[in-house]
Amino acid sequence: MNLKINAYLEELKSFNDSNAQKIEELRIKFLSKKGLIAALFEEFKAMPSQEKREVGRSLNDLKKFASTKIEELKSTNPVEEDAGEKIDSTRPANNYFLGSRHPVNLVKNEIIGIFEKIGFNVSEGPEVEDDWHNFTALNFPEEHPARDMQDTFFVAKDPDWALRTHTSSVQVRVMENDKPPIRTISPGRVFRNEAISARSHCIFHQIEGLYVDKNVSFADLKQTLLYFAQEFFGKETKIRLRPSYFPFTEPSAEVDVYWGLENEVDYKMTKGTGWLEVMGCGMVDPNVLKNCGIDPEVYSGFAFGMGVERIAMQRYQISDIRLLFENDMRFLEQFQSEL
Ligand code: PHE
Repeated sequence: MNLKINAYLEELKSFNDSNAQKIEELRIKFLSKKGLIAALFEEFKAMPSQEKREVGRSLNDLKKFASTKIEELKSTNPVEEDAGEKIDSTRPANNYFLGSRHPVNLVKNEIIGIFEKIGFNVSEGPEVEDDWHNFTALNFPEEHPARDMQDTFFVAKDPDWALRTHTSSVQVRVMENDKPPIRTISPGRVFRNEAISARSHCIFHQIEGLYVDKNVSFADLKQTLLYFAQEFFGKETKIRLRPSYFPFTEPSAEVDVYWGLENEVDYKMTKGTGWLEVMGCGMVDPNVLKNCGIDPEVYSGFAFGMGVERIAMQRYQISDIRLLFENDMRFLEQFQSEL
């Protein structure tokens, strides 16, 4: 027994490692419940009592020595986590990187806000649409070439299901479900099978508006669009309407906003005319009202629709629509200061 005690003492005395892991191993070897010293105490219990007194003392000394030695080792060689650099609590905190809104959303939210002020609500609908809501109810007769105006992505070769080509489909759903007066705008993603270039993309966003009530006239349409243009483009903004064609409106028009023609950028933006084309519009065709269960003898309405990317490109002078879909941080970070 004494031999073992002395041997252990020697081992403890000569231990000189500063590695925290090694120190912990030493503690387990000697001081844990199944360690060497605990085993000696077990042996001690079985010893004849006359030997116990002397051995007992050395055994206790050994235990005390081991504990103090290991405590000392631990306090002079702290575990690595604590050994790291000192924390400077006066240092300014790291800046959080705040995300920014996407320019398409900035423009979309602003347009929604402008129409909400005059009583329009927001309606949404599915991106995968059936033929009825995207075409037939909107007065696109079957096999009519007007369907080719909007190159369609069909779902799994099923001619009855497609990705919506415009959010006019949402307006059909609103008219089917609600009774006039209806004042709603429908923002959302739309899809057209077009080649991707700097000016056009196969996915983009639209905001379409619809107003159906008794005695809604073309004058109401024109005044609403003028209000919008002056809120969005500036108080002095002028608009003009050019005759156009859409299957679901009659008469139909294209809306231009006067942009100016003072410098080279104006020239480029307006193709030398000074006017920017911003949306299509018209009086809802009576057939469309009828298809949606609204009596065209009692009610009339107007509708309009604009492409959000096109307007965002004008507002922020973005020359390539693809930038709006690539999520390049260098591009998106530029919109951090916007709300
Ligand atoms: N739905 C048309 C389009 O996608 C836009 C439009 C909406 C035109 C409402 C007139 C009236 O091109």
